[in-house]
Amino acid sequence: MTSSQPHKQTHRSTPNKTTPLDPERLTSLLAREWDTYTHHTQSSHNEFENAVRVIPLGVTSSFQHWDPYPISIVSANGAWMKDVDGRDLLDLSMGFGAMLAGHLNPAVVAEIESTLDVGTLFVTPSPSARDAAQRICRRFAIEQVRFTNSGTEATMYAVRTARAASGRLDIVKVEGGYHGSYDPLMVSAKPSIADAGDANNPDAVYPYGTVSGNVHVVPYNNLEALERVFAAHAKDIACFIVEPVLENIGIVLPDAGYLEGVRALCDQYDVILIFDEVKTGLTAGPQGAAQRLGVTPDLICLAKSIGGGVPLAAFGGKQKYMAAVTDGRMAHFGTFNGNPLAMAGVRAIDKICTVESLGQAEALNLDALNRITEIINEYELPAHTVGFGIKGCITWSATPVRNYRDYKATDFQIAELSWLWSLNRGIITPPGLDEQWLVSLAHTQREIDLLVEDFRELAQALRA
Ligand SMILES: Cc1ncc(COP(=O)(O)O)c(C=O)c1O
Repeated sequence: MTSSQPHKQTHRSTPNKTTPLDPERLTSLLAREWDTYTHHTQSSHNEFENAVRVIPLGVTSSFQHWDPYPISIVSANGAWMKDVDGRDLLDLSMGFGAMLAGHLNPAVVAEIESTLDVGTLFVTPSPSARDAAQRICRRFAIEQVRFTNSGTEATMYAVRTARAASGRLDIVKVEGGYHGSYDPLMVSAKPSIADAGDANNPDAVYPYGTVSGNVHVVPYNNLEALERVFAAHAKDIACFIVEPVLENIGIVLPDAGYLEGVRALCDQYDVILIFDEVKTGLTAGPQGAAQRLGVTPDLICLAKSIGGGVPLAAFGGKQKYMAAVTDGRMAHFGTFNGNPLAMAGVRAIDKICTVESLGQAEALNLDALNRITEIINEYELPAHTVGFGIKGCITWSATPVRNYRDYKATDFQIAELSWLWSLNRGIITPPGLDEQWLVSLAHTQREIDLLVEDFRELAQALRA
């Protein structure tokens, strides 16, 4: 049985009394903030005009784009970035969580510099890769690991491993879950509600250009729906892939008992359980979300936070499944896999991500979440805060968000205003409105105070 209470290792505030926002005020504040934006970011605009001639949308990943044009950054250090207009920006996006160590963390820089003395690519076995693999296996309590260069590759290979190990092809995934851009995992990543069918039995929505069939889509936090799919397709399903905490639609926490129920159902129906910890990973705590929440997957995907800001990802887990790599049922290749620069990132992160350092960052995060909750209550805003590890977000809904349909019912206009408001005042949070802030090892009380006070000013403006 699950309860809609969140898991005890997580933070979710309970909204108090709320008063509706004035829609006209919201619209006029948003228009004013967009004017301010274009006024202060002329060099970013010019940069965009040049970039867009040679790069679609002017960005190297479509996530980096927003209309009318995004801000262009020239440098970053610690918790701060500088844009082409010369403005200092407090970074609370931190590379979607990849910059957990902070920009140019001295330990990361030192390990990378030491690598530059010995070589950047061998494409042979190397003590540096063996050492990094030992560190990852020890920390995440897994038996074997292979390195890749991006989270997309890690989830793609984890699914392929599960298919090869099980001899079955179907995949089960959560509606609204994003796992990178491997074709079958783009199914129902963020579908339009008009196409998505019944909330308890969602249709699989295939974005144009993706090919594979056999992807079953289930709502998060719903064991009955998962069991229905498992029971109907048991002999075809290779794996269920899920983020233990959904972190691509704000932060959506597992209900108490949900992940335990998922584990039990996967065991019952002989389905390989893959935790996509690309976003949670070390941002969830020193050993990742699985260990923090006490549920063991069969395979795990890691990226972002484990590399100190160097392109690096990994997939791994139980030897009995990774045997598919060993015996060639699932061939895994990659020229840059495990390159020394990436392995230096792992070494540095493993040294600096201690219980103490991550505990301090988490305490700062909780301080931000609690103080923002107080402001929400004081101004009776239709919002609440959600946090997990060193990440947090404001969810613009008076009721808890437990799955994708709840998320789609949140107020995106006020979320846009909140993001733009901060951006215009020198605080950069992730662009997508679906993301969360990250308190890195470089953030201090000063940065938390800036975040909280900025939110207070927004609350005042909303109720003025
Ligand atoms: C949960 C999750 N899985 C996989 C990926 C893909 O990682 P990458 O962008 O490194 O390919 C992402 C990217 O944001 C993600 O959030």
